[in-house]
Amino acid sequence: MNALNPYCPELATVQEVIQETANIRTLRITLNDPGKMRRFAFQPGQVGQLSVFGVGESTFVINSPPTCKDYLQFSIMRVGEVTQRLHQLSAGDPLGVRAPLGNAFPVDAMAGKHILFIAGGIGMAPLRTLLLTLLGERERYGDITLIYGARSPHDLCYRYEFEDWKARGADLVLTVDQEFPGWTERVGFVPTVLSEESPSPHNRIAVVCGPPIMIKFVLFGLKELEFEDHQILTTLEKRMKCGIGICGRCNIGSRYVCVDGPVFNFDQLRHMVPDL
Ligand SMILES: Cc1cc2nc3c(=O)[nH]c(=O)nc-3n(C[C@H](O)[C@H](O)[C@H](O)COP(=O)(O)OP(=O)(O)OC[C@H]3O[C@@H](n4cnc5c(N)ncnc54)[C@H](O)[C@@H]3O)c2cc1C
Ligand code: FES
Repeated sequence: MNALNPYCPELATVQEVIQETANIRTLRITLNDPGKMRRFAFQPGQVGQLSVFGVGESTFVINSPPTCKDYLQFSIMRVGEVTQRLHQLSAGDPLGVRAPLGNAFPVDAMAGKHILFIAGGIGMAPLRTLLLTLLGERERYGDITLIYGARSPHDLCYRYEFEDWKARGADLVLTVDQEFPGWTERVGFVPTVLSEESPSPHNRIAVVCGPPIMIKFVLFGLKELEFEDHQILTTLEKRMKCGIGICGRCNIGSRYVCVDGPVFNFDQLRHMVPDL
């Protein structure tokens, strides 16, 4: 972040573009100042504001692991104007970045525990940085399981990395909503697959990210399996403006998603949203 003016983006350049799905692209970017790029530090779960000059700024999770010093990676689903313009960028194009913002996953508190990742669609982006971080210190954690679903095989992000994740010690349970020619993995919605898998809550943390309807039914499923609220983490999407706790745009109750979040456990969320 610019120490003198936190609203001022750092200049950055797109190095590589990866087409993940029909409407999701991954941008690998570097800060133009090599010293700032070298010193840039963040924790899994933190976000950045990407700006397209003359268009606007939007929030995206940094989904490369903090150990990656060559680039910062963001995966962007095209939904409106800023994301459409971000999708038009190619290698060599300029953009602005304000990062890192927000809190992070409690990586140290996860040590010694089994970790269950549950993701839907673009919800895999915030979990990728955490997954790669845990796999980088595999011996610190128990079982690492990922239940990841999307509408079709073509809607799963990072498909080209799945074999590497498995080789590094993650168990993957992949699912799509309907039968698809050539698909040999699971078929069914993520919450259904969760109840089929029935993981024990004993010494386990669940990290959930996906569309609100998926989160709602996954939460029911985890409660049926007797997970406690404090064992369930998620990362919230609430539209942000300043990203630094000043404008008041992103509040839920008395908490600001941009500084108190975006990572919360469900114990905290129930206090913020009593009818959750
Ligand atoms: C903490 C955080 C992390 C995020 N991480 C990612 C990420 O890694 N990848 C990614 O693709 N997106 C992510 N998002 C969502 C992303 O910020 C929005 O999709 C983006 O701002 C839309 O900008 P736009 O100008 O293209 O769309 P707009 O024209 O502003 O909006 C288009 C449509 O999307 C809806 N929308 C816009 N922003 C949000 C939002 N934050 N939550 C729910 N609905 C929204 C609008 O209501 C509208 O219907 C994140 C958001 C937050 C707050
Ligand atoms: S985005 Fe301004 S207070 Fe959170």
